[in-house]
Amino acid sequence: MDMHKNETLVITCARGVAEYLRQEVEQLGYTVQSASETRIDIAASLHDAMRLNLMLRTGVNVLCLLKQFSCEGPDKLYREVVSFPWEDYIAPTEYLSVVSRVNTPTIDNSVFASQKVKDAIVDRISEKCGSRPDSGPGRDNVVINFYWNDDRCWIYLNTSGKKLSDRSYRKIPHTAPLQETLAAALLGAAGFDGSQPLVNPMCGSGTLAIEAALIASNRAPGLLRSNFGLKHVMGFDSEAWSVLRKEVRARSKKEPPFRIIATDIDKKAVEAAKKNAQTAGVDHMIEFHVCDFNDTPIPEEKGIVILNPEYGYRLGIERELEGTYKRIGDFFKNKCTGYAGYIFTGNMALSKKVGLKTSRRLVFFNARIECRLLEYHMYVGSK
Ligand SMILES: C[S@@+](CC[C@H](N)C(=O)[O-])C[C@H]1O[C@@H](n2cnc3c(N)ncnc32)[C@H](O)[C@@H]1O
Repeated sequence: MDMHKNETLVITCARGVAEYLRQEVEQLGYTVQSASETRIDIAASLHDAMRLNLMLRTGVNVLCLLKQFSCEGPDKLYREVVSFPWEDYIAPTEYLSVVSRVNTPTIDNSVFASQKVKDAIVDRISEKCGSRPDSGPGRDNVVINFYWNDDRCWIYLNTSGKKLSDRSYRKIPHTAPLQETLAAALLGAAGFDGSQPLVNPMCGSGTLAIEAALIASNRAPGLLRSNFGLKHVMGFDSEAWSVLRKEVRARSKKEPPFRIIATDIDKKAVEAAKKNAQTAGVDHMIEFHVCDFNDTPIPEEKGIVILNPEYGYRLGIERELEGTYKRIGDFFKNKCTGYAGYIFTGNMALSKKVGLKTSRRLVFFNARIECRLLEYHMYVGSK
């Protein structure tokens, strides 16, 4: 495996996030070749893939295209996959996992597709090397992504292995935590760059506050993880990896100049958020309080206040939440003058109860739920 040859790298993301991922990728100096709602394609090397895995905040997987072909059925699929030189990529002592997404009339089952691809890979390695890697669902070692759309197939090496949204700091999830990559995109959409205070009432397990601390201190999220798919592939350059980690670490800033405040009414949520922040190494940058959101301390310098309240789809709970959403509007109006306020919610009916005029409504998807990031400007004198 040549770490410096230009390949097609595909960086995947959640729906709604591609624009922020594009900004990140371009800021890192890469030219986007094509993009869709859930991916960005660039021409770059596997060495670049290491850097992207370390630095990206909003990308979910960094994939390297190994092979694409037309395919009309399972037999052709096997023949195409078995003809690839897998013995140059995967040692027989490794552990392999295949993840598939299938959208073709030929088969209706991605598990069957994964099985077929896995069989072809291990048969090839067994024939060339005399033994074969173990395989299963775990994504801790070599991960291969397979896509079959109509009569086209694509096979990728997943250089991330586990999703990059799994930063490994959230040991205690609490209720309905946001994906870390989505939280980073929401902060990007809100224009947070660490040059202003960030207030996060209803912090839950602390994802928004922790991601904000990572952004404000310019810490690369990938430094929090030691394991990536690429590290298990033959020819992985561990020396270059150590150098890159050192370079990236050297760019971190010690202390962000402004306060990050995270509060929640639930003591257990604040305890979880504190522990998660400790694991991420940013607890000293975040001020935690147990309180109703309305009692959250608001720094005098003007900044960003962002809340992710419950959506409450169950009847009764939704009625209770109407009062909460109305109180958020009052909190913005009465306590957050001069701030940009953001509510991230999947419940549009409840968002109407806020009673303030939005200046932007941005669409994001939290898993399958279509959500909005609602922006409100509390101008001085608008009370
Ligand atoms: C959807 S969760 C937030 C999840 C968070 N974004 C995360 O990533 O973990 C909503 C949070 O609001 C908190 N909450 C509900 N009512 C509150 C209130 N009146 N004041 C402060 N926090 C409240 C809940 O305890 C819960 O932790």
